[in-house]
Amino acid sequence: MLEEDSGPSELGTLEFWNAQYSKEVENFSRHGDQGEIWFGEDIVDRVITWMTSNVDTTASIVDIGCGNGHILAELARLDYKKLTGLDYSEPAIKLAKAIAEKDGLEIHYEVSDVLEGLPNKYDVIHDKGTYDAVCLSENKLEARAKYLMSIEKALNDNGYFIVTTCNWTTDEISDHCKNYFELFKTIPTPQFKFGGKIGHVVSICVFKKKK
Ligand SMILES: C[S@@+](CC[C@H](N)C(=O)[O-])C[C@H]1O[C@@H](n2cnc3c(N)ncnc32)[C@H](O)[C@@H]1O
Repeated sequence: MLEEDSGPSELGTLEFWNAQYSKEVENFSRHGDQGEIWFGEDIVDRVITWMTSNVDTTASIVDIGCGNGHILAELARLDYKKLTGLDYSEPAIKLAKAIAEKDGLEIHYEVSDVLEGLPNKYDVIHDKGTYDAVCLSENKLEARAKYLMSIEKALNDNGYFIVTTCNWTTDEISDHCKNYFELFKTIPTPQFKFGGKIGHVVSICVFKKKK
């Protein structure tokens, strides 16, 4: 994607996410519906499968822009112990807490804007769709720079930064990250072929800090 292609969008605003998750809180309390899983369950399975083979259950893991917290809920069911979910949308955190409480899962949730820095340091920082949203905000270049600085500060040496994006290819996001991180692994995702070229709808990248 060209830089100029990704103009601001409502997905880059707190108002949009508050309205979205307020509806989901209502649906959860009325019908028990846990809400949207961005990019679908197949992508979640791929991330979780990679984590279970590469990340110890004692690792501290944060999901930034956690939404309803489904990734953390899955990890809690697999016996991961130190789980934190952050989102700048209060209704998102309300929903995630309500789901965890209903399912008896121990996950710490907190309202927090990733652009303001993360509250702790972690072994794993996970993001599915949040960097995409940040890149759709009004001051996207400044927001992108703040986001990457927050991640760099909060990631323990030897930790993993796992990011799933539908806006950027692996090469593009690796280029954004190049001052702080190097690509460690791409988790395979379904491919499509168009005009003789092979592409991916969604990329899942695992980065490590640059030495
Ligand atoms: C596309 S949704 C993805 C939600 C969740 N990660 C998932 O996979 O279902 C993007 C999420 O990022 C959150 N978000 C956007 N900008 C943020 C920021 N600056 N700090 C924290 N959360 C943010 C939104 O509130 C929303 O929950």
